[in-house]
Amino acid sequence: MTHVLHRSIAHRYPVAVSGRGIFIRDADGKDYIDASGGAAVSCLGHSHPDVLAAMRAQLDTLEYAHTSFFTTRAAEELAEDLVAHAPAGLDHVFYVSGGSEAIEAALKLARQYFVERGEPQRRYLVARRQSYHGITAGALAIGGREWQRRDFAPLLIETHHVSPVYAYREQLTEETPEAYAERLARELEAKVDELGAKNVIAFVAEPVVGATMGAVPAVPGYFKAVRRVCDRHGILLILDEVMCGMGRTGTLHACEQEGISPDLMAIAKGLGGGFAPIGALMLSGKIFETLAQGSGAFQHSHTYTGHPLACAAALAVQRTIRRDDLLANVRRQGAHLERRLRERFGNHPFVGDVRGRGLFQGLELVADRGTKEPFDPARKINSRVKHEAMARGLMVYPMGGTADGQRGDHVLLAPPFIIDEAAIDTIVDRLGDAVDAAVAG
Ligand SMILES: Cc1ncc(COP(=O)(O)O)c(C=O)c1O
Repeated sequence: MTHVLHRSIAHRYPVAVSGRGIFIRDADGKDYIDASGGAAVSCLGHSHPDVLAAMRAQLDTLEYAHTSFFTTRAAEELAEDLVAHAPAGLDHVFYVSGGSEAIEAALKLARQYFVERGEPQRRYLVARRQSYHGITAGALAIGGREWQRRDFAPLLIETHHVSPVYAYREQLTEETPEAYAERLARELEAKVDELGAKNVIAFVAEPVVGATMGAVPAVPGYFKAVRRVCDRHGILLILDEVMCGMGRTGTLHACEQEGISPDLMAIAKGLGGGFAPIGALMLSGKIFETLAQGSGAFQHSHTYTGHPLACAAALAVQRTIRRDDLLANVRRQGAHLERRLRERFGNHPFVGDVRGRGLFQGLELVADRGTKEPFDPARKINSRVKHEAMARGLMVYPMGGTADGQRGDHVLLAPPFIIDEAAIDTIVDRLGDAVDAAVAG
């Protein structure tokens, strides 16, 4: 009997009692390889001694100070660190406790920016189908995961959606990646024209789509074309790097590989690596200056904004990643993971696509490789893969709705940055067995 309202009421969850490196151990003594970092969170694995030491030191001096009274060294140092390594133009940080909060803050700050600039008519937000931006009302509204939005539709703010970048299903055979990118940018521009460019606040996108599609990167040129559309119409570009950011794709920020900078960028997950709940919104100098010269305050705050323990943990995570040159390991082991996935699943009858960047890789499962027909959702293939993987001591992050928001299944892998080749080989072997068992059942 449990009094916790768990994610799935009927499911009996194993009790996690300890973690070390890439492993989590349950109360029965069974070890699981954390090949998804939970949900792309645990970038340093579990119980990293240097992060724990930094957190203990923070607790020994100050556990909490409300931000309406004080700033703290931990908050200031982390912001300095983040800005020193930020995409060009982002020079301030607003702290929150997770990804959804970072997105809520982005939407409100974008709106406040235009109000303060004397453009209060700007009220439309444009995002993409099959995207996930969080579970709170604003974040859910801009998200494009249809099955999750449906029941709450009457409570959600008005948002508009355009196509995701989805080369596997939607790039035409005669189309180059560049032409596909241009077609998608034209679709965005047509949407902006339809809404009236002067009424649009922002376009929101994940540089590499995570939870809803399974590590789908953009095609070359897409984000440059999107940036041009936004600039042409004075619209803000909000990048959601909550899952794909903070080193996951092999560069600190995923947008570095696209050669663009956003106006606002949401980060979380790998920022604190699971050691403490923390997220952040990074903002450009032009947005900061507009508020500084205007009302003088962002109309938004939380009790735990800039929590010193969370900031100290995040700072230690980021310093450890740099000290140990872990982004080089993400690139090296990411290439090994991709190679091994292609060897194991490249000709698998029920795997249509292997994709991703760095230690952020996905498999799309299909009932028929030739026609790309998804499995019947009633078969719950994605939950079966999760179940079969857990039975084999492996944590992966499968999800449904990949193909169109309702149908389709994928498996997302996002192992800790400390992973090595031998562990990757074990992950791929166990995942292969889990997928085979799931589709056979
Ligand atoms: C891209 C993206 N944005 C936002 C969120 C929401 O983050 P959180 O669950 O920390 O609220 C997630 C969570 O998976 C995410 O993947």
